[in-house]
Amino acid sequence: MRVLLAGRGDVSVVHVAAISALGAELVGVCDSTSDYRAMLSALRPDVVHVCTPHDTHVPIALEALAHGAHVLLEKPVAHTIEEAAVLVDALADFPDLQVGVCLQNRYNATSRAASQFLQDQDHASVRGGSATVLWHRDAAYYAKRPWRGERERSGGGVLINQAIHTIDLLQWLLGEVSQVSGHSARMSDIPGIDVEDTANLLLDHVGGARSVVFATVTNAVDSPVTIEIATSSAVLHLRGDLTITHDDGRVEVVAEPRSTGEGRDYWGASHQLLIADFYRAISSGEPFGITPADALKSQKIIDEIYRKGT
Ligand SMILES: NC(=O)c1ccc[n+]([C@@H]2O[C@H](COP(=O)([O-])OP(=O)(O)OC[C@H]3O[C@@H](n4cnc5c(N)ncnc54)[C@H](O)[C@@H]3O)[C@@H](O)[C@H]2O)c1
Repeated sequence: MRVLLAGRGDVSVVHVAAISALGAELVGVCDSTSDYRAMLSALRPDVVHVCTPHDTHVPIALEALAHGAHVLLEKPVAHTIEEAAVLVDALADFPDLQVGVCLQNRYNATSRAASQFLQDQDHASVRGGSATVLWHRDAAYYAKRPWRGERERSGGGVLINQAIHTIDLLQWLLGEVSQVSGHSARMSDIPGIDVEDTANLLLDHVGGARSVVFATVTNAVDSPVTIEIATSSAVLHLRGDLTITHDDGRVEVVAEPRSTGEGRDYWGASHQLLIADFYRAISSGEPFGITPADALKSQKIIDEIYRKGT
């Protein structure tokens, strides 16, 4: 596979490591000073990884598809739900090309074990879940990459940028969401940003389970994400590792591999697994699981909160 990487910022390091580990050939890297169209024409890559600010995802993806390349997009699909829908609709024109979205937490050993456990249960026994994302993003974080604090470019703050992974896991584990309520707000006084830093959500899942989420980037430190899921016979606790406590007293623990050293600990260690699976899908022709339409499920939940106003 000949690969073009769009974006050479923070997350690009985990993509470069995965591309190299898979034995693919990185033929080019572009950034905001490059013309990605010219690079696509000149290099004709098989795959393009899009690791750029949110408002550039769809234009780069569409251009890559038009040049015959498969596309692996960093989350979210786009900075707005409308632009994401443009990509979803356009995919019908490229039936032989795969487009995947990096929601890598679905590949965590703990997420997979929780999913398997819940699938083995009677669906009606799943009562609901709760989750916290308590992270720290200070003025320096936004000053270093101004797009992250500009709603026009990022689409939002803690929800679309950080908590999207956890919201996606809840809808993936507990079922699609039929009703959303909640609020988002900017509580800190970081100058020059217009994105929310805190949000709470109440999600009603098809099938009857309910989940609640609290997410903020105003915490003093980056705490581990927590997810708790209650069934009629056990409670699942995700906090790094997964602990399943059964009503009869049995306790099972599933360990989560720690980050491999590239990137940040709180991104987890599963980018490599997702990227390997994407390349496997390209080689086999089997559809890759996390399509833009699938990734849009969590983005639509977030969009509903945004429409209620910050
Ligand atoms: N999956 C995860 O856990 C995870 C973690 C971090 C970031 N991300 C996502 O990765 C993406 C990038 O985030 P980041 O923190 O690395 O951003 P960043 O600001 O550190 O890097 C962005 C890069 O994109 C380049 N760029 C900007 N406009 C471009 C254009 N028009 N053409 C080509 N390159 C362009 C910039 O020059 C820069 O190299 C975002 O979508 C973000 O949400 C995902």
